[in-house]
Amino acid sequence: MSRLSAILLLATSAVYASVAPAHGSHIENTRLGSRWYHDDDHPVHALFKRGPVGDGIIYPAIGTLEWSAGFPPATADTTMLPQAWVDALNAAAKAGKIPDIPQSTSTNGLDPVYPPGYDPISATVCSSTAKCVTPGDVWDAPPGVIALSFDDGPLPASDQLYQFLASHSEHVTHFFIGTNILLYPEQFKTAFETNQDDIAVHTWTHPYMTTKSNLEVLAEIGWTMELIHNSTGGRIPKYWRPPYGDSDMRVRAIAKEVFGLTTVIWNQDTDDWTLSEPVPLTTPEKIQQQMTQWLTGPKTPGLVILEHELSDLSVKSFIDAYPMMVSNGWNRVSLAQLDAGSVYQNAWNSTSQVNLAKVGDLAAKPPARASTTAKPTATTAKKPASSSSSSGKPASPDKPLGNQKSGATHFSAASLALTGITAAIVAATVGTIMA
Ligand SMILES: *[C@@H]1O[C@H](CO)[C@@H](O)[C@H](O)[C@H]1NC(C)=O
Ligand SMILES: *[C@@H]1O[C@H](CO)[C@@H](O)[C@H](O)[C@H]1NC(C)=O
Ligand SMILES: [Zn+2]
Repeated sequence: MSRLSAILLLATSAVYASVAPAHGSHIENTRLGSRWYHDDDHPVHALFKRGPVGDGIIYPAIGTLEWSAGFPPATADTTMLPQAWVDALNAAAKAGKIPDIPQSTSTNGLDPVYPPGYDPISATVCSSTAKCVTPGDVWDAPPGVIALSFDDGPLPASDQLYQFLASHSEHVTHFFIGTNILLYPEQFKTAFETNQDDIAVHTWTHPYMTTKSNLEVLAEIGWTMELIHNSTGGRIPKYWRPPYGDSDMRVRAIAKEVFGLTTVIWNQDTDDWTLSEPVPLTTPEKIQQQMTQWLTGPKTPGLVILEHELSDLSVKSFIDAYPMMVSNGWNRVSLAQLDAGSVYQNAWNSTSQVNLAKVGDLAAKPPARASTTAKPTATTAKKPASSSSSSGKPASPDKPLGNQKSGATHFSAASLALTGITAAIVAATVGTIMA
Protein backbone atom coordinates (compact mmCIF):
# COMPACT_ATOMS: atom_id res chain seq x y z
CA MET A 1 0.00 0.00 0.00
CA SER A 2 1.23 3.43 -0.86
CA ARG A 3 1.59 6.32 1.50
CA LEU A 4 -1.03 8.03 -0.60
CA SER A 5 -3.59 5.40 0.02
CA ALA A 6 -2.79 5.52 3.70
CA ILE A 7 -3.57 9.23 3.64
CA LEU A 8 -6.79 8.36 1.93
CA LEU A 9 -7.60 5.89 4.62
CA LEU A 10 -7.02 8.34 7.39
CA ALA A 11 -9.08 10.95 5.63
CA THR A 12 -12.03 8.69 5.01
CA SER A 13 -11.78 7.29 8.48
CA ALA A 14 -12.15 10.78 9.88
CA VAL A 15 -15.16 11.31 7.67
CA TYR A 16 -16.79 8.21 8.98
CA ALA A 17 -16.06 9.12 12.54
CA SER A 18 -17.93 12.36 12.00
CA VAL A 19 -21.00 10.78 10.46
CA ALA A 20 -21.24 7.61 12.49
CA PRO A 21 -23.58 8.99 15.17
CA ALA A 22 -26.26 9.63 12.58
CA HIS A 23 -28.39 6.61 13.17
CA GLY A 24 -30.34 5.30 10.26
CA SER A 25 -33.99 4.53 10.59
CA HIS A 26 -33.84 2.27 7.57
CA ILE A 27 -33.82 -1.02 9.35
CA GLU A 28 -35.50 -3.08 6.68
CA ASN A 29 -33.89 -6.33 7.57
CA THR A 30 -33.84 -7.94 10.95
CA ARG A 31 -31.06 -9.73 12.69
CA LEU A 32 -30.03 -13.27 12.76
CA GLY A 33 -31.71 -15.86 14.91
CA SER A 34 -29.78 -18.10 17.20
CA ARG A 35 -29.76 -21.10 14.87
CA TRP A 36 -27.65 -21.00 11.78
CA TYR A 37 -26.66 -24.53 10.95
CA HIS A 38 -27.79 -25.67 7.55
CA ASP A 39 -31.10 -27.41 7.64
CA ASP A 40 -31.58 -27.94 3.98
CA ASP A 41 -30.26 -30.43 1.49
CA HIS A 42 -28.53 -28.14 -0.95
CA PRO A 43 -27.69 -29.18 -4.52
CA VAL A 44 -24.12 -27.90 -4.17
CA HIS A 45 -23.05 -31.51 -3.83
CA ALA A 46 -23.43 -31.79 -7.60
CA LEU A 47 -20.73 -29.14 -8.12
CA PHE A 48 -17.89 -30.71 -6.16
CA LYS A 49 -17.65 -34.38 -6.75
CA ARG A 50 -15.34 -36.86 -5.25
CA GLY A 51 -15.73 -40.60 -5.35
CA PRO A 52 -15.82 -42.83 -2.29
CA VAL A 53 -12.64 -44.13 -0.72
CA GLY A 54 -11.25 -46.68 -3.15
CA ASP A 55 -12.66 -45.01 -6.25
CA GLY A 56 -9.34 -45.62 -7.98
CA ILE A 57 -8.54 -41.93 -8.40
CA ILE A 58 -5.22 -40.76 -7.03
CA TYR A 59 -5.72 -37.39 -5.39
CA PRO A 60 -2.57 -35.29 -5.62
CA ALA A 61 -0.82 -34.40 -2.39
CA ILE A 62 -1.21 -30.86 -1.13
CA GLY A 63 1.58 -28.65 -2.42
CA THR A 64 2.44 -30.73 -5.49
CA LEU A 65 2.32 -29.42 -9.03
CA GLU A 66 -0.51 -31.79 -9.86
CA TRP A 67 -2.48 -30.41 -6.94
CA SER A 68 -2.28 -26.80 -8.09
CA ALA A 69 -2.08 -27.17 -11.88
CA GLY A 70 -5.81 -27.05 -12.54
CA PHE A 71 -6.40 -23.83 -10.64
CA PRO A 72 -6.03 -20.29 -11.94
CA PRO A 73 -2.76 -19.10 -10.36
CA ALA A 74 -3.48 -15.42 -9.78
CA THR A 75 -6.86 -14.22 -10.95
CA ALA A 76 -10.32 -15.68 -10.47
CA ASP A 77 -10.48 -16.82 -14.06
CA THR A 78 -13.99 -16.85 -15.51
CA THR A 79 -13.00 -18.38 -18.86
CA MET A 80 -12.23 -21.82 -17.48
CA LEU A 81 -15.18 -22.17 -15.11
CA PRO A 82 -16.63 -25.67 -14.84
CA GLN A 83 -19.86 -25.71 -16.83
CA ALA A 84 -21.73 -27.17 -13.86
CA TRP A 85 -21.11 -24.00 -11.82
CA VAL A 86 -22.30 -21.77 -14.65
CA ASP A 87 -25.37 -23.94 -15.17
CA ALA A 88 -26.17 -23.75 -11.47
CA LEU A 89 -25.86 -19.96 -11.53
CA ASN A 90 -28.09 -19.71 -14.59
CA ALA A 91 -30.66 -22.02 -13.07
CA ALA A 92 -30.73 -19.99 -9.85
CA ALA A 93 -31.08 -16.75 -11.83
CA LYS A 94 -33.85 -18.21 -13.95
CA ALA A 95 -35.68 -19.29 -10.82
CA GLY A 96 -35.56 -15.67 -9.67
CA LYS A 97 -33.21 -16.40 -6.79
CA ILE A 98 -30.42 -14.00 -7.76
CA PRO A 99 -31.56 -10.39 -7.33
CA ASP A 100 -30.97 -8.31 -10.43
CA ILE A 101 -29.24 -5.36 -8.80
CA PRO A 102 -26.29 -3.60 -10.40
CA GLN A 103 -22.65 -4.03 -9.46
CA SER A 104 -21.22 -1.37 -7.21
CA THR A 105 -18.04 0.50 -8.06
CA SER A 106 -15.12 1.26 -5.80
CA THR A 107 -12.83 4.17 -6.56
CA ASN A 108 -9.37 4.30 -5.00
CA GLY A 109 -10.34 1.46 -2.72
CA LEU A 110 -13.11 3.43 -1.05
CA ASP A 111 -16.41 1.92 0.00
CA PRO A 112 -18.24 0.62 -3.04
CA VAL A 113 -21.09 2.83 -4.24
CA TYR A 114 -24.20 1.89 -6.21
CA PRO A 115 -25.72 3.69 -9.18
CA PRO A 116 -28.35 6.33 -8.35
CA GLY A 117 -31.64 4.81 -7.29
CA TYR A 118 -30.06 1.91 -5.43
CA ASP A 119 -30.04 2.63 -1.72
CA PRO A 120 -27.41 0.43 -0.03
CA ILE A 121 -29.55 0.07 3.07
CA SER A 122 -32.74 -0.74 1.22
CA ALA A 123 -34.10 -4.26 1.44
CA THR A 124 -33.38 -4.63 -2.28
CA VAL A 125 -29.65 -3.99 -2.02
CA CYS A 126 -28.89 -4.52 1.68
CA SER A 127 -25.16 -3.86 1.55
CA SER A 128 -23.23 -5.25 4.51
CA THR A 129 -20.66 -2.52 3.93
CA ALA A 130 -23.49 -0.09 4.75
CA LYS A 131 -24.21 -2.36 7.75
CA CYS A 132 -27.52 -3.61 6.47
CA VAL A 133 -28.13 -6.97 8.12
CA THR A 134 -29.87 -9.76 6.24
CA PRO A 135 -31.49 -12.62 8.15
CA GLY A 136 -29.35 -15.71 7.91
CA ASP A 137 -26.06 -13.84 7.82
CA VAL A 138 -23.84 -14.08 10.88
CA TRP A 139 -22.76 -10.91 12.67
CA ASP A 140 -22.94 -11.93 16.33
CA ALA A 141 -22.17 -14.90 18.51
CA PRO A 142 -24.52 -16.31 21.15
CA PRO A 143 -24.27 -14.71 24.61
CA GLY A 144 -21.07 -15.55 26.46
CA VAL A 145 -19.38 -16.94 23.37
CA ILE A 146 -16.38 -15.49 21.61
CA ALA A 147 -16.36 -16.91 18.10
CA LEU A 148 -12.75 -17.28 17.01
CA SER A 149 -11.74 -16.74 13.41
CA PHE A 150 -8.86 -15.38 11.36
CA ASP A 151 -8.88 -13.94 7.87
CA ASP A 152 -6.45 -13.78 4.94
CA GLY A 153 -4.26 -16.81 5.56
CA PRO A 154 -2.53 -19.04 5.06
CA LEU A 155 0.58 -16.88 5.30
CA PRO A 156 4.02 -17.04 6.94
CA ALA A 157 2.66 -15.23 10.01
CA SER A 158 0.23 -18.13 10.45
CA ASP A 159 3.02 -20.33 11.89
CA GLN A 160 3.21 -18.37 15.09
CA LEU A 161 -0.55 -18.37 15.48
CA TYR A 162 -0.90 -22.11 14.87
CA GLN A 163 1.78 -22.89 17.44
CA PHE A 164 0.03 -20.76 20.01
CA LEU A 165 -3.39 -22.24 19.29
CA ALA A 166 -2.08 -25.79 19.44
CA SER A 167 -0.27 -25.18 22.72
CA HIS A 168 -3.50 -23.87 24.23
CA SER A 169 -5.70 -26.54 22.63
CA GLU A 170 -7.82 -23.92 20.91
CA HIS A 171 -9.58 -24.38 17.58
CA VAL A 172 -10.48 -21.55 15.26
CA THR A 173 -12.00 -20.99 11.84
CA HIS A 174 -9.73 -19.84 9.05
CA PHE A 175 -11.28 -17.75 6.30
CA PHE A 176 -8.65 -18.60 3.73
CA ILE A 177 -7.80 -16.80 0.50
CA GLY A 178 -7.61 -19.37 -2.31
CA THR A 179 -4.46 -18.05 -3.92
CA ASN A 180 -2.76 -17.96 -0.52
CA ILE A 181 -3.50 -21.67 -0.11
CA LEU A 182 -1.68 -22.25 -3.41
CA LEU A 183 1.29 -20.22 -2.13
CA TYR A 184 1.44 -21.58 1.42
CA PRO A 185 0.42 -25.23 1.31
CA GLU A 186 2.50 -26.10 4.40
CA GLN A 187 0.61 -23.60 6.52
CA PHE A 188 -2.62 -24.91 5.09
CA LYS A 189 -1.70 -28.44 6.13
CA THR A 190 -0.78 -27.31 9.62
CA ALA A 191 -4.15 -25.60 10.04
CA PHE A 192 -6.22 -28.44 8.65
CA GLU A 193 -4.27 -31.61 9.38
CA THR A 194 -2.16 -30.83 12.43
CA ASN A 195 -4.38 -28.40 14.32
CA GLN A 196 -7.62 -29.84 12.87
CA ASP A 197 -9.01 -26.37 12.57
CA ASP A 198 -12.05 -25.36 10.56
CA ILE A 199 -11.61 -24.07 7.01
CA ALA A 200 -13.90 -21.53 5.38
CA VAL A 201 -13.87 -19.31 2.29
CA HIS A 202 -12.46 -15.78 1.93
CA THR A 203 -12.50 -15.73 -1.91
CA TRP A 204 -9.80 -16.40 -4.47
CA THR A 205 -8.23 -12.93 -4.77
CA HIS A 206 -9.83 -10.79 -2.04
CA PRO A 207 -11.83 -8.18 -4.00
CA TYR A 208 -14.82 -6.07 -3.05
CA MET A 209 -17.33 -8.69 -4.08
CA THR A 210 -20.21 -6.32 -4.81
CA THR A 211 -18.11 -4.74 -7.56
CA LYS A 212 -17.94 -8.08 -9.36
CA SER A 213 -20.22 -9.55 -12.03
CA ASN A 214 -22.22 -12.68 -11.30
CA LEU A 215 -19.68 -14.81 -13.16
CA GLU A 216 -16.78 -13.20 -11.31
CA VAL A 217 -18.50 -13.82 -7.97
CA LEU A 218 -18.98 -17.41 -9.07
CA ALA A 219 -15.27 -17.72 -9.87
CA GLU A 220 -14.04 -16.02 -6.66
CA ILE A 221 -16.06 -18.35 -4.48
CA GLY A 222 -16.07 -21.47 -6.64
CA TRP A 223 -12.31 -21.79 -7.12
CA THR A 224 -11.73 -21.33 -3.40
CA MET A 225 -14.32 -23.96 -2.55
CA GLU A 226 -12.87 -26.38 -5.07
CA LEU A 227 -9.34 -25.97 -3.74
CA ILE A 228 -10.53 -26.49 -0.16
CA HIS A 229 -12.63 -29.45 -1.27
CA ASN A 230 -9.70 -31.01 -3.10
CA SER A 231 -7.35 -30.41 -0.16
CA THR A 232 -9.49 -31.67 2.71
CA GLY A 233 -10.56 -35.09 1.59
CA GLY A 234 -13.66 -33.72 -0.10
CA ARG A 235 -15.11 -31.35 2.48
CA ILE A 236 -17.40 -28.62 1.20
CA PRO A 237 -17.08 -25.40 3.21
CA LYS A 238 -20.22 -24.03 4.77
CA TYR A 239 -19.18 -20.47 5.62
CA TRP A 240 -17.62 -17.61 3.78
CA ARG A 241 -16.64 -14.10 4.80
CA PRO A 242 -16.62 -11.46 2.06
CA PRO A 243 -13.39 -9.42 1.97
CA TYR A 244 -13.92 -6.03 3.64
CA GLY A 245 -17.24 -7.45 4.81
CA ASP A 246 -18.60 -6.32 1.45
CA SER A 247 -21.66 -8.25 0.33
CA ASP A 248 -25.20 -7.50 -0.77
CA MET A 249 -28.39 -9.35 -1.72
CA ARG A 250 -27.00 -10.37 -5.12
CA VAL A 251 -23.63 -11.58 -3.89
CA ARG A 252 -24.98 -13.42 -0.87
CA ALA A 253 -27.62 -15.04 -3.09
CA ILE A 254 -24.95 -16.47 -5.38
CA ALA A 255 -23.02 -17.70 -2.36
CA LYS A 256 -26.15 -19.25 -0.89
CA GLU A 257 -28.12 -20.46 -3.88
CA VAL A 258 -25.26 -21.80 -5.97
CA PHE A 259 -22.78 -22.84 -3.30
CA GLY A 260 -24.87 -23.29 -0.15
CA LEU A 261 -22.65 -20.87 1.79
CA THR A 262 -23.66 -18.82 4.80
CA THR A 263 -22.26 -15.28 4.90
CA VAL A 264 -20.31 -14.25 8.00
CA ILE A 265 -19.41 -10.68 8.93
CA TRP A 266 -18.35 -9.50 12.44
CA ASN A 267 -19.42 -7.26 15.30
CA GLN A 268 -16.08 -5.86 16.48
CA ASP A 269 -13.00 -4.82 14.56
CA THR A 270 -9.58 -3.78 15.82
CA ASP A 271 -8.03 -2.69 12.52
CA ASP A 272 -5.29 -5.20 13.35
CA TRP A 273 -4.52 -5.61 9.65
CA THR A 274 -3.14 -2.06 9.51
CA LEU A 275 -0.43 -2.77 12.10
CA SER A 276 1.89 -3.84 9.31
CA GLU A 277 0.91 -0.97 7.02
CA PRO A 278 3.16 2.06 6.49
CA VAL A 279 0.68 4.22 8.38
CA PRO A 280 -1.17 2.00 10.83
CA LEU A 281 -4.62 3.10 11.93
CA THR A 282 -4.06 1.65 15.35
CA THR A 283 -1.39 0.52 17.80
CA PRO A 284 -0.92 -2.64 19.82
CA GLU A 285 -1.77 -0.58 22.93
CA LYS A 286 -5.01 0.69 21.43
CA ILE A 287 -6.02 -2.80 20.38
CA GLN A 288 -5.44 -4.08 23.91
CA GLN A 289 -7.59 -1.26 25.25
CA GLN A 290 -10.40 -2.22 22.88
CA MET A 291 -9.99 -5.88 23.71
CA THR A 292 -10.12 -5.09 27.41
CA GLN A 293 -13.29 -3.12 26.93
CA TRP A 294 -15.01 -5.86 24.91
CA LEU A 295 -13.77 -8.79 26.96
CA THR A 296 -14.65 -7.27 30.31
CA GLY A 297 -17.92 -5.82 29.00
CA PRO A 298 -21.42 -7.25 28.51
CA LYS A 299 -21.56 -10.79 27.19
CA THR A 300 -24.61 -10.21 25.00
CA PRO A 301 -24.31 -10.48 22.14
CA GLY A 302 -21.29 -12.72 22.03
CA LEU A 303 -18.21 -11.49 20.24
CA VAL A 304 -17.25 -11.94 16.62
CA ILE A 305 -14.00 -9.98 16.42
CA LEU A 306 -12.42 -9.52 13.02
CA GLU A 307 -8.82 -10.74 13.29
CA HIS A 308 -6.09 -11.51 10.80
CA GLU A 309 -3.28 -14.02 10.47
CA LEU A 310 -1.65 -11.44 8.26
CA SER A 311 1.42 -10.23 10.14
CA ASP A 312 3.30 -11.07 13.32
CA LEU A 313 1.79 -7.94 14.82
CA SER A 314 -1.80 -8.87 14.04
CA VAL A 315 -1.21 -12.37 15.40
CA LYS A 316 0.38 -10.92 18.51
CA SER A 317 -2.65 -8.73 19.15
CA PHE A 318 -4.70 -11.91 19.50
CA ILE A 319 -2.07 -13.66 21.62
CA ASP A 320 -1.86 -10.69 23.96
CA ALA A 321 -5.64 -10.55 24.40
CA TYR A 322 -6.06 -14.29 24.83
CA PRO A 323 -5.52 -14.42 28.62
CA MET A 324 -8.40 -11.95 29.02
CA MET A 325 -10.70 -14.24 27.04
CA VAL A 326 -9.90 -16.96 29.53
CA SER A 327 -9.95 -14.92 32.73
CA ASN A 328 -13.27 -13.28 31.87
CA GLY A 329 -14.95 -16.60 31.33
CA TRP A 330 -15.66 -16.36 27.64
CA ASN A 331 -16.72 -19.58 25.99
CA ARG A 332 -14.14 -19.82 23.20
CA VAL A 333 -15.54 -21.48 20.10
CA SER A 334 -14.29 -21.82 16.57
CA LEU A 335 -16.70 -19.65 14.62
CA ALA A 336 -17.83 -22.45 12.30
CA GLN A 337 -18.84 -24.47 15.37
CA LEU A 338 -21.21 -21.86 16.80
CA ASP A 339 -24.46 -23.35 17.99
CA ALA A 340 -22.82 -26.75 17.86
CA GLY A 341 -23.44 -27.00 14.14
CA SER A 342 -21.49 -28.93 11.58
CA VAL A 343 -18.46 -27.18 10.14
CA TYR A 344 -18.81 -28.35 6.56
CA GLN A 345 -21.81 -28.91 4.34
CA ASN A 346 -21.01 -32.57 4.02
CA ALA A 347 -18.95 -33.41 7.11
CA TRP A 348 -19.18 -32.66 10.79
CA ASN A 349 -15.61 -31.49 11.20
CA SER A 350 -12.06 -31.91 9.98
CA THR A 351 -11.75 -35.51 11.08
CA SER A 352 -15.23 -36.98 10.79
CA GLN A 353 -16.52 -38.82 7.77
CA VAL A 354 -17.43 -36.98 4.59
CA ASN A 355 -20.98 -37.65 3.51
CA LEU A 356 -20.75 -37.96 -0.24
CA ALA A 357 -24.40 -38.06 -1.06
CA LYS A 358 -25.97 -35.38 1.02
CA VAL A 359 -25.31 -31.85 1.95
CA GLY A 360 -26.61 -30.67 5.25
CA ASP A 361 -27.68 -33.03 7.95
CA LEU A 362 -31.32 -32.86 8.89
CA ALA A 363 -30.64 -34.97 11.95
CA ALA A 364 -28.16 -32.43 13.26
CA LYS A 365 -29.79 -30.09 15.73
CA PRO A 366 -28.09 -27.57 17.94
CA PRO A 367 -28.40 -28.15 21.66
CA ALA A 368 -31.21 -26.23 23.32
CA ARG A 369 -29.96 -22.91 24.54
CA ALA A 370 -31.47 -20.82 27.25
CA SER A 371 -33.41 -18.19 25.32
CA THR A 372 -30.89 -16.66 23.03
CA THR A 373 -31.39 -12.97 22.85
CA ALA A 374 -32.83 -11.51 19.72
CA LYS A 375 -32.41 -7.98 20.92
CA PRO A 376 -31.05 -5.74 18.20
CA THR A 377 -27.64 -4.51 19.13
CA ALA A 378 -24.97 -2.44 17.57
CA THR A 379 -22.67 -3.96 15.09
CA THR A 380 -19.34 -2.47 14.32
CA ALA A 381 -19.06 -0.27 11.35
CA LYS A 382 -16.18 -1.03 9.12
CA LYS A 383 -14.43 0.90 6.44
CA PRO A 384 -12.60 -0.63 3.58
CA ALA A 385 -9.20 0.66 2.89
CA SER A 386 -7.46 1.53 -0.24
CA SER A 387 -7.08 -1.49 -2.38
CA SER A 388 -3.84 -2.72 -3.78
CA SER A 389 -5.44 -5.59 -5.58
CA SER A 390 -4.69 -4.11 -8.97
CA SER A 391 -1.18 -5.46 -8.58
CA GLY A 392 -2.60 -8.91 -9.21
CA LYS A 393 -0.47 -10.22 -6.38
CA PRO A 394 -2.24 -13.26 -5.04
CA ALA A 395 -1.41 -12.78 -1.38
CA SER A 396 -3.45 -9.63 -1.15
CA PRO A 397 -3.88 -8.72 2.48
CA ASP A 398 -7.16 -7.83 4.02
CA LYS A 399 -8.08 -4.20 3.99
CA PRO A 400 -11.18 -3.85 6.06
CA LEU A 401 -10.78 -0.42 7.50
CA GLY A 402 -12.98 -0.44 10.51
CA ASN A 403 -13.00 2.12 13.22
CA GLN A 404 -16.47 2.55 14.62
CA LYS A 405 -17.91 0.87 17.56
CA SER A 406 -20.47 3.51 18.15
CA GLY A 407 -24.06 2.67 18.74
CA ALA A 408 -24.83 3.16 15.10
CA THR A 409 -26.57 0.15 13.73
CA HIS A 410 -26.99 1.43 10.23
CA PHE A 411 -25.82 4.46 8.40
CA SER A 412 -28.60 6.72 7.32
CA ALA A 413 -28.97 7.54 3.69
CA ALA A 414 -27.91 11.09 4.50
CA SER A 415 -24.68 10.06 6.13
CA LEU A 416 -23.92 7.77 3.25
CA ALA A 417 -24.48 10.56 0.78
CA LEU A 418 -22.26 12.85 2.84
CA THR A 419 -19.61 10.19 2.88
CA GLY A 420 -19.83 9.87 -0.87
CA ILE A 421 -19.40 13.59 -1.34
CA THR A 422 -16.49 13.76 1.04
CA ALA A 423 -14.95 10.74 -0.60
CA ALA A 424 -15.11 12.58 -3.89
CA ILE A 425 -13.39 15.55 -2.31
CA VAL A 426 -10.75 13.30 -0.83
CA ALA A 427 -10.27 11.59 -4.15
CA ALA A 428 -9.89 14.94 -5.85
CA THR A 429 -7.38 16.03 -3.25
CA VAL A 430 -5.40 12.87 -3.73
CA GLY A 431 -5.51 13.43 -7.45
CA THR A 432 -3.83 16.76 -6.80
CA ILE A 433 -1.21 15.20 -4.60
CA MET A 434 -0.50 12.61 -7.22
CA ALA A 435 -0.11 15.20 -9.92
C1 LIG B 1 -10.31 -31.39 -7.84
O1 LIG B 1 -10.40 -32.79 -7.62
C2 LIG B 1 -11.19 -33.49 -8.59
C3 LIG B 1 -11.22 -34.93 -8.16
O2 LIG B 1 -12.03 -35.06 -7.06
C4 LIG B 1 -10.59 -33.34 -9.94
O3 LIG B 1 -11.42 -33.97 -10.89
C5 LIG B 1 -10.48 -31.87 -10.28
O4 LIG B 1 -9.84 -31.71 -11.51
C6 LIG B 1 -9.69 -31.14 -9.21
N1 LIG B 1 -9.74 -29.72 -9.52
C7 LIG B 1 -8.67 -29.09 -9.98
C8 LIG B 1 -8.89 -27.67 -10.39
O5 LIG B 1 -7.57 -29.58 -10.06
C1 LIG C 1 -15.04 -34.28 15.23
O1 LIG C 1 -16.29 -34.78 15.63
C2 LIG C 1 -16.21 -35.99 16.34
C3 LIG C 1 -17.62 -36.43 16.61
O2 LIG C 1 -18.32 -36.57 15.42
C4 LIG C 1 -15.43 -35.79 17.62
O3 LIG C 1 -15.29 -37.01 18.29
C5 LIG C 1 -14.06 -35.22 17.28
O4 LIG C 1 -13.38 -34.90 18.48
C6 LIG C 1 -14.21 -33.98 16.45
N1 LIG C 1 -12.89 -33.50 16.06
C7 LIG C 1 -12.57 -32.21 16.15
C8 LIG C 1 -11.21 -31.86 15.66
O5 LIG C 1 -13.31 -31.37 16.57
ZN1 LIG D 1 -9.62 -10.31 4.30
